[in-house]
Amino acid sequence: MEIIIQPTHHELAAITSLIIRDALLKKPNLVLGLATGSTPIGLYKALVKLHREEKLDFSNVTTFNLDEYIGISIEHPESYHTFMSKHFFDHVNIPSENQHIPQNTTKNHEAFCTSYEEAIVRAGGIDIQVLGIGTDGHIGFNEVGSSLSSRTRIKTLSLSTIKANAIHFDGKIDAVPEMAITMGIGTIMDAKQCLLLASGEAKSEAIAKAVEGPITAMVPASILQMHPKTTVIIDEAAASRLEEVEYYKRSYANRQKLMSQKQ
Ligand code: F6R
Repeated sequence: MEIIIQPTHHELAAITSLIIRDALLKKPNLVLGLATGSTPIGLYKALVKLHREEKLDFSNVTTFNLDEYIGISIEHPESYHTFMSKHFFDHVNIPSENQHIPQNTTKNHEAFCTSYEEAIVRAGGIDIQVLGIGTDGHIGFNEVGSSLSSRTRIKTLSLSTIKANAIHFDGKIDAVPEMAITMGIGTIMDAKQCLLLASGEAKSEAIAKAVEGPITAMVPASILQMHPKTTVIIDEAAASRLEEVEYYKRSYANRQKLMSQKQ
């Protein structure tokens, strides 16, 4: 795992956008796995800026979102379809046929989940998967106790996730859908690269467990320790409970030094 610690959320969003920009310049038909929630909003803003100001071209990009609630319409203001249009898709040039978000309207969820997995394979697999993390260590809607090799399926949201997400539903816990379709942990692990983002003190415990704790289904993000190319990009507050901060900062500085010598 590569750990990048930045002063604030602003810098971590900027650095993540540059990682995606560089990958996109190398591979114009990049396949991106995308997340919703508060964490990636800054990243989407930064990518939209690169599209507007540097003409970063997304016309050959394909995207797959991690998850979507079941039980609200895709037009609902808090659906992940609405979120993605509002924060990203309405502002860049990704063809709509290349945008994939789990369909919550299907009657046959099992067939849909299989077809979602097949569509990812047909696209050539996910090149870069963007991830947030729940305070309990979940990724996607793979709640605590999820199989570490799970595939796209339906999950019931934990009480901790429902409470955390209630802020988006006027603070009403009862308004938060109880179920969602989510890529599995095995699906996420198949991505060629994962970028795990977190900011704020509230995420510090989950980050410490995911990065430095044992690999366990009780902290789903901890499986990323087994991923060959995961970069954890966090702010100082989210890094505050890590034990090896000095090492992570020195490693990152050394990698930067090597990179600048190459250029
Ligand atoms: C959303 C998702 C979730 C969130 C996580 C953190 O697509 O996959 O795992 O990343 O719940 O949410 P925020 O960023 O709102 O703290």
